[in-house]
Amino acid sequence: MELFETMIQHTSVRSFTDQKLSAELQEQLVLAAQSASSSNFLQACSLIQVTDNIKRKAIETIAKFPVDNGTNGQFYIFVADLNKHAQVLQQQNLSTEHLSTMESLVVAIVDTALAAQSMAVYAESVELGICYVGGIRNDLFKMKDLLDLPKFTYPVFGLFVGYPAEKNEVKPRLPKTAILNTNTYQPFTPAMLADYDEVTTTYYLERSTNMQATSWSEKVRRHFAQARRSNTIDFLKKQGFVF
Ligand SMILES: Cc1cc2nc3c(=O)[nH]c(=O)nc-3n(C[C@H](O)[C@H](O)[C@H](O)COP(=O)(O)O)c2cc1C
Repeated sequence: MELFETMIQHTSVRSFTDQKLSAELQEQLVLAAQSASSSNFLQACSLIQVTDNIKRKAIETIAKFPVDNGTNGQFYIFVADLNKHAQVLQQQNLSTEHLSTMESLVVAIVDTALAAQSMAVYAESVELGICYVGGIRNDLFKMKDLLDLPKFTYPVFGLFVGYPAEKNEVKPRLPKTAILNTNTYQPFTPAMLADYDEVTTTYYLERSTNMQATSWSEKVRRHFAQARRSNTIDFLKKQGFVF
């Protein structure tokens, strides 16, 4: 399939066959991730490929995602990593003050997301399926212990990559008018929301698995009805970041 077609057919895959990923493919996936753009060439991202079944089982419990379902997919944790840079500074007895800031953390998280998406796009271009697993952040402190994460690191998400056993229908995105503005930001109007809710209601009612009577705005309301992962700031402070 042409790359553009592959990209617009993206759906997250949560069910995989037991076909193994070749060693060559695994090499390519990592190289694709590493080749992404990087802010100031800081390369502030590390990957941890989790192959240990005991660790996978523990992560499955934390993330509520089937990383331990007996398939041969690969599971990578994408870590925003400023530890290497701290070492560069500390080797010369320099301060890490400007490395521990919110801006540095944003830089590292952006680098990490770009690396992951490069891996994801490459994976889908060779007919693998992927799913991001933000659920690893349900227990950041346990993830830190499991993976021996040092200071100035933050596990942003996992990415599961494998051969799809089944694929969902493509989820209809917001219309172009709601996301592409010209020269100035344009408000998202109630009419746009009503139109999109109609589209998403139909999608959720008619999809072949996990049908639901809901809409995009209903999902948004539910998502923001409660605080989520509110210990993130404590975790980041313990990791050396200063806010
Ligand atoms: C950063 C990030 C974290 C995610 N975490 C999870 C997760 O923990 N579990 C899961 O089932 N899906 C997860 N997803 C997948 C989203 O639910 C999915 O991308 C979204 O519903 C859109 O569906 P689609 O990818 O099939 O188009 C995550 C996606 C992103 C970008």
